[in-house]
Formats: sequence, structure tokens, C-alpha cells
Amino acid sequence: MLGINAIETFYGETQALFGVSLNVQPGEIVALLGPNGAGKTTTLRSILGLSPPRHGAVRFDGRDITRLPTHAIARMGVSWVPDDRRVFPTLTAARNLKIGTRRTRFRAWNEDEMFSIFPALANLYGRECETMSGGELQMVSIARALLGSPGIVLFDEPSQGLAPKIVQDVLRTIRRLKDEGIAALVVEQNALAMLEVSDRVYVMDRGHIEHEGAASELLGNLTLRRRLIGI
Ligand SMILES: Nc1ncnc2c1ncn2[C@@H]1O[C@H](COP(=O)(O)OP(=O)(O)OP(=O)(O)O)[C@@H](O)[C@H]1O
Ligand SMILES: [Mg+2]
Repeated sequence: MLGINAIETFYGETQALFGVSLNVQPGEIVALLGPNGAGKTTTLRSILGLSPPRHGAVRFDGRDITRLPTHAIARMGVSWVPDDRRVFPTLTAARNLKIGTRRTRFRAWNEDEMFSIFPALANLYGRECETMSGGELQMVSIARALLGSPGIVLFDEPSQGLAPKIVQDVLRTIRRLKDEGIAALVVEQNALAMLEVSDRVYVMDRGHIEHEGAASELLGNLTLRRRLIGI
């Protein structure tokens, strides 16, 4: 589904990724963990064409997408839930969702399904996003990502700043995607909760992949876990 091969990504002359490789299979939930500045967001930005890698390749759904513009990558079925949500603040939830709606070759979702996944969304529908709480904005951002009919969703710290109950809702939504055959690559600080719902995990540090394996292995191996993610 998604394959990254030895990418090197720079901000100006500063190198942020040093030969990062990872893959995500259809319907797989993959956690991307690591400390601040490790290169997690840069990896997602590299996939999305926002910070195209200088070397190496990104493939999605059988195509080389390394040099494609971001809108073309989105149209192929790569959705993004950014760490700063990035909704249009002065527009209503309804407008933001309309703007994010796309058809791809993957399963198309409709707004009624969004209301069934996020019942609270119905009450937010006509409200401007600038009036919403962090949890409410996150709901809009995830619903918008789904309405883009993704084959994979890239989540960047989806539970950041959310109440524990909403964190569980977010993780449940990621599980629900899996049940529908949609893959997820998830950057998350809440490492243990994330590992519980993940199939596989990559741990990054200083622009390198330090570890790759089954999520259950990392959960069950305290020594490894302490060394890699410090918990
Ligand atoms: N716009 C930018 N310009 C220059 N350097 C950047 C920029 N964004 C990130 N970097 C640098 O690239 C490296 C990787 O940053 P990145 O944001 O990908 O890390 P991260 O793993 O997402 O960290 P965090 O957990 O803090 O979100 C860091 O050294 C960071 O300082
Ligand atoms: Mg980040």
C-alpha cells in the first residue's frame, strides 16, 4: 500500500531524515514513535509531498508518488490529520467537510456515516471552527480525512491536547478504519495506548529508524521498551 525507501529529507541545508524506510500494508495500523525532533512529522510531510525527499522514493498504491504535488497525492487516497488540525477557522464544520470531500478508488464515506461515528458532530455542523474546542476540531479534522475516501490516513499526534475520553474515541476510530480495510500510519506520544491498537511499530530517533517490529513484541518486552521509548 505505502512504501518509503531510503528517503533523505532536508529543510534548506539541514538534513532531517537520513535514509528512512518503512511500509504499511492495506488495513494495517502502524505506529510511528520517537522523541521530539526525531523526524516523525517530517516523514509524514515527505509522504504528502509537503517536504519532498531529496533522495529515495515514496510509493503508494503501486505508483511512485515521490515528486507528485500534494493535491495529486491526496486525490490518490492519502489523507492527513495534521498535528495543528488545519481546518479553515472562519468556515463552518459543514464547509470544511465539503471542501475535504473527494472520490478515490477506495471506499467513499458520506456525512451520515460521520454522524454515526462522531454523534457530537451533528451539533457542530453549522458552527464556525474558530469557536470549537480541541476535541471538537479533532473530530472535524478526522471526519474531513475520511470524507477524502482514503486508502491510508496519516495521523500526526491525534490525541494531543485531548481529554482521556476523547483519546479513546480517536483510537476507536482508527480501529474502525482498520475494520473497513483502511490503513493508518499514526504518530502518537501516547505510546502505550497506541501500541495496544497497532499491528506494527517503527521507532525513530534523530532522523533514523531505530526499531521496526510487531507492536505486541514492543508491548511485551519491557527492556526493549524502556530502551526505545523510555516507558
Ligand atoms: N520547518 C523546519 N525548518 C527547519 N527545520 C525543521 C523544520 N521542521 C522541522 N525541522 C527539524 O527537523 C527535525 C525533525 O523534526 P520533526 O518535526 O519531523 O520531528 P518530530 O519527530 O515530528 O518531533 P515532535 O515530536 O516535536 O513533533 C528536527 O531537528 C527539527 O528541528
Ligand atoms: Mg511532529
